[in-house]
Amino acid sequence: MTDIVEVRGLTVRYDGATALDGVDLTVGDHEMVALIGANGAGKSTLVKALSGLVRPDGGTVEVRGRLAQVPEGREMFGDLSVDDNLRLGGWRNGRAGRDTSGVYELLPELGEIRRRRAGALSGGQQQMVAIGRALMSRPDVLVIDELSLGLAPLVVRTLAAHLRDLHRTRGLAVLLIEQNARLALDLCDRAYVLETGRVAVQGKALDLEKDPRVTAAYLGGHVEEAS
Ligand SMILES: Nc1ncnc2c1ncn2[C@@H]1O[C@H](COP(=O)(O)OP(=O)(O)OP(=O)(O)O)[C@@H](O)[C@H]1O
Ligand SMILES: [Mg+2]
Repeated sequence: MTDIVEVRGLTVRYDGATALDGVDLTVGDHEMVALIGANGAGKSTLVKALSGLVRPDGGTVEVRGRLAQVPEGREMFGDLSVDDNLRLGGWRNGRAGRDTSGVYELLPELGEIRRRRAGALSGGQQQMVAIGRALMSRPDVLVIDELSLGLAPLVVRTLAAHLRDLHRTRGLAVLLIEQNARLALDLCDRAYVLETGRVAVQGKALDLEKDPRVTAAYLGGHVEEAS
């Protein structure tokens, strides 16, 4: 399997404070990978390094394909319609693609609200817009910084189902940044746990679900019996 994202020894400092310290992480072609970690662990810093918004102080970042990101906080243009937000997504991601119909095919719920003002939408709808906007550039890999933050469980399940579909039908690779470890491990094949700028644990999601280091700190200390 070729890696579409390859991060080696990544170190990032902000004014001398180390946010990432020698991080190795890969996302294979068509793979779904989760990045779990507490507040301040360095997750968003890694996302920013992938899209070139922060410069590494050490190590390398390679992206072999088109990367699009759903930024933390979604960053809508609140006064613009859903449709205009999608178009701006195509433009922002370096494509003149103005045709939003493909995205409405993938996310039919968005078609129903295409003329509404983005700022008036619910959090879940806005997250859907943010995902749609990222898809406008027809990415090979989608990086989502906090899928579930502030959203009701049912909404999260809907978004997760869409991601799984995009992964299955279009082979989209996904790097999912999540504080909800249960969700991340359910959805992804492989995961990394980031602790104060370092990878503390990594492996297959199925193994991490049973790993005491993960269950204690990220899954409420409770291991569910296998049935
Ligand atoms: N622009 C910045 N200037 C200075 N320090 C920063 C900056 N951005 C992040 N940091 C610091 O770097 C560390 C990692 O932050 P980062 O936002 O990457 O964490 P995170 O894992 O995304 O956290 P959260 O779960 O709260 O989103 C934190 O200690 C944070 O305070
Ligand atoms: Mg963050």
